[in-house]
Parts: sequence; C-alpha cells; structure tokens
Amino acid sequence: MKVLIATQKPFSAAAVQGIKEIIEGAGHEFVALEKYPAQEDFVKAVADVDALIIRSDKVTEEVIAAAPSLKIVVRAGAGYDNVDLEAASKRGIVVMNTPGQNSNAVAELALAMMIYMSRCQFTPATGIELMGKTLGVQAFGNVGRLVGKKAEALGMKVAAVDPFIPSEKIREMGAEPAESVEELYAKSDFVSIHIPATPQTIKSIGYDLISKMPKGACLVNTARKEVIDEEGLEKVLEERPDLKYVTDVAPDNYALLKEKFGLRVFATPKKMGAQTAEANMNAGLAAARQIVDFFATGNTRFQVNK
Ligand code: 3PG
Repeated sequence: MKVLIATQKPFSAAAVQGIKEIIEGAGHEFVALEKYPAQEDFVKAVADVDALIIRSDKVTEEVIAAAPSLKIVVRAGAGYDNVDLEAASKRGIVVMNTPGQNSNAVAELALAMMIYMSRCQFTPATGIELMGKTLGVQAFGNVGRLVGKKAEALGMKVAAVDPFIPSEKIREMGAEPAESVEELYAKSDFVSIHIPATPQTIKSIGYDLISKMPKGACLVNTARKEVIDEEGLEKVLEERPDLKYVTDVAPDNYALLKEKFGLRVFATPKKMGAQTAEANMNAGLAAARQIVDFFATGNTRFQVNK
C-alpha cells in the first residue's frame, strides 16, 4: 500500500523518520509532501495513495475525488473538522484521529498563554498571579483535564463543564462542576476553551457569554477560531476594557483587534499548540501504527466516521 504523509506544517524530522520506519517496516511504500504551497499540490499528490496521514491539512471533497485508491485517512491529532467526513463515508473511506497524543503539548500552551497575558505580554506593566484565581475549563476531555490538573498545581481553583460528562464524574476527576456554560463563564477569572468545531459549537462563544466573565478575566482559546463569534468578541472587548483574549488560532479580525485593544489580545502567528517534539512523535507514530494495523487486521479503533 502507498502511504502519503501530507503536512502543510511539517512534523519534526525525527518524527517523520519514525513514521517512515513503521510504514516501510510493515512492507508499505512511504511518501511525504511537506510545506506544500497550495491546496492543488495536495490534490495532485493523492492520485495513487491508499492511505493518508495529515495534520490540519484540508481533506476536502476534491481531495477525496482525486484519490480513487484511498482507503484510510488518519488525522495525527485530535480535531478532525478539516476532513469532509460525509464525502469520505460516501466512498467507504475510514477516517481516524489519534486522541490524547498531543494533549499535553496543548495543555502546556494554554497555561503558558494564561501566564503571558497575566504578565501583560512580558512588558513591565503590573500583572496578576494565577494562584487563588478560578479557571473554568470548557469541555473536560483529554486536553481540558490536563489543563485543570496543571492549573491546580499552580494554586488555582478549577471548575469545568462538559455536555458529555456528568457532574459527579467531573467532581471525581478533580474539578468543581458548573451547572451550565453560562455559570462557568460567570465565575471564572480564566476560561480555557477545549470544545471541537462542529455545526453546534461554531460561533457559540460570543457577546452574551463573554460579557458574563468577571472583572479582569481572560479568555484562552487553544481550540478552534471558528467557535468564537468574532464580532461579538470585538463588541465585548470594546465595552469591557478589563477583559483579555488570547488564542492559538488567530481570528480573521486579528489586525483590527490588535489595533483597537493592544496588549489585551494576543494570537500566535501559526497554530502551535501541538508543535512540540514529543507531540509530533506521539501523534505521528500513533497515526502510522493505526494505518499499519488497519491494513493488517482491519482494526478501526479510533474511527470517527462510523
Ligand atoms: C489538534 O486538533 O490535534 C490540534 O489542533 C493540532 O493541530 P495541528 O496538528 O495542525 O498542529
């Protein structure tokens, strides 16, 4: 089988080497397409591949149509909103992710962002400390739980909400359950967002929710830019000069926000939450192993388009 790793934002050389060894070691062919300048390069590269490993690369209907032999796509990472699941399913293509493999990297970045904003982006202005403050974790999955644990170690109180996890379970996992997302925002000095981008969550965080946050609060987004209603965010930052927004995914209106709100907003130049040597290795090798196992035994654990 021919396995293509297509990564606009490449993994480390060591991770790519590890992936190659797993694929070739199982008797498959390995090809790589990294840092490709345009989507059409990706479309061309899939012509004769049986399997694909991707990151945030866009597996559109066009990509799927251009890959008649494609049988499996593994998103080396957690979020799979970049894959057209419907188009894949129609063709019987299995789509998987590698849950948990890059969670620690993202959790560490969320904490780093909280400190960066609390210390006024490392300018000499007087900042605040995290100890004693309340962190609200919006969605208590792999990343959210790790953020909660790390925040607790810094002396923060941790609250959480998750539509798929009952309150008792959240308590057992070490956080104070909030009754609703609204309550979480209302009581948290920091809210760390860990929801996926789905039709239900897109633009779900906007003016009404953010304006519930207490004085001096900071919203931290290491999830997806699409979950934010950017106009609502702009409006609330305008009305509330005490609030801050930090994100690993630059909003479309970032230039405007930066111009209007200066040090109260910050976005990384490129999504970097999962960009560590460890996360590259964990997610990349897991993806390669899942493909090898799928071809050897038909194992579809981690399939997301069942
Ligand atoms: C994920 O969903 O796993 C993260 O957003 C990482 O995305 P990336 O692989 O494009 O860095």
